Amino acid sequence: MLKNLVLVGFMGTGKSTIGRQLSKALGYPLIDTDARIIAQQKRPIADIFAKEGEEFFRDLETQVLHSLTEDKCHKRIIATGGGIILREENRKLLRELGFVVWLVAQPETILERTSRNKERPLLDIEDPAERIRTMLEARNPLYDETSHLILETTSLSFSEITTGIIESA
Ligand code: S3P
Repeated sequence: MLKNLVLVGFMGTGKSTIGRQLSKALGYPLIDTDARIIAQQKRPIADIFAKEGEEFFRDLETQVLHSLTEDKCHKRIIATGGGIILREENRKLLRELGFVVWLVAQPETILERTSRNKERPLLDIEDPAERIRTMLEARNPLYDETSHLILETTSLSFSEITTGIIESA
């Protein structure tokens, strides 16, 4: 496998965990777009959303994708933030980067996983269940349009997901 492996999907679908496992199994470095932004900005994502707003954060995501496509490196695992597919420009860049895998989980699983940490400004509200459903409805066609492979993860273990991706890429 020569291309980059790119993981997209909603918050709480396991992109970072599966990214780490793929990186270990294949010996490819893991790049996490959220981690890059945090390192560049030297502050948490919630702070960026609170001070400059979502569009500024989306600009930072687009910049990270441009730098990853311009360096022409391959054989990397690239885990992305859940909203990276919102811009058409980003969807094109993601496909240029390599093989794009869309990780899918049920809204209940997403709610359960995301309520365990408070680092997600878009879900930091009293009752995020309805917001998760609305956001999924709006975003699912965009993940679909961007990805080469769809993986329903709810009934699979993380290692089954990792093996499935390696076999398909
Ligand atoms: C976001 C998802 C987050 C992070 C930011 C916005 C989104 O990443 O990029 O809070 O719009 O879905 P994870 O998907 O890794 O939680």
